[in-house]
Amino acid sequence: MVARLTAAHEILEPDEDTVSDVRLDTIGAEDLEFLRQLRNAERRWFFDQNEVTPEAQAAWHRSLAAHPNNHWYMVRVGDRRAGCFSIKVGDDGRAYVGSILLAPEFRGQGVMTQAMGAAMDQLGSHLRYYTEVLADNDQSLNLFNRLGFTPRFVTLERTAR
Ligand SMILES: CC(C)(COP(=O)(O)OP(=O)(O)OC[C@H]1O[C@@H](n2cnc3c(N)ncnc32)[C@H](O)[C@@H]1OP(=O)(O)O)[C@@H](O)C(=O)NCCC(=O)NCCS
Repeated sequence: MVARLTAAHEILEPDEDTVSDVRLDTIGAEDLEFLRQLRNAERRWFFDQNEVTPEAQAAWHRSLAAHPNNHWYMVRVGDRRAGCFSIKVGDDGRAYVGSILLAPEFRGQGVMTQAMGAAMDQLGSHLRYYTEVLADNDQSLNLFNRLGFTPRFVTLERTAR
């Protein structure tokens, strides 16, 4: 069901009913403003709901090289910017999937399912992939469900008073 990817920058092999030119790429400096605006527009879904400034976004981008186990993926459809996600591989065989963002015009077509499935195939199915999702984020829960994730641990929070 999920297309395969053997290396970053490679075009994924699509199923017949899938968007055919989904690509995983590195995040370049020219992608930062697109991702910053998308992240700020969708910040209600993230733990840190502060607005990200251009300066903070640039500092974050500079810091990526120091953390090679935290894989960041730019998702492109052809030459168009579609979104991003990250997978942080730990020393314990677990891998945290996060920072998932897809621009509204690319939703509903399986783009993120294809992209994340390919990245997990690439990093290896021996890893225990996990994530945290707000309980009312149905689109994200559906996405992870399609990728084979099931609820195992439940995080409870009392919001700040
Ligand atoms: C979470 C998010 C990436 C999901 O986007 P999405 O478009 O639903 O996910 P996909 O790109 O995998 O597309 C799946 C949709 O395409 C449909 N689809 C069509 N063809 C498909 C195919 N070949 N394969 C899989 N799905 C397909 C699916 O049915 C699904 O639509 P549905 O939810 O209406 O049933 C997106 O809603 C988003 O960016 N939200 C804001 C940020 C956010 O919440 N991030 C997660 C924080 S934990």
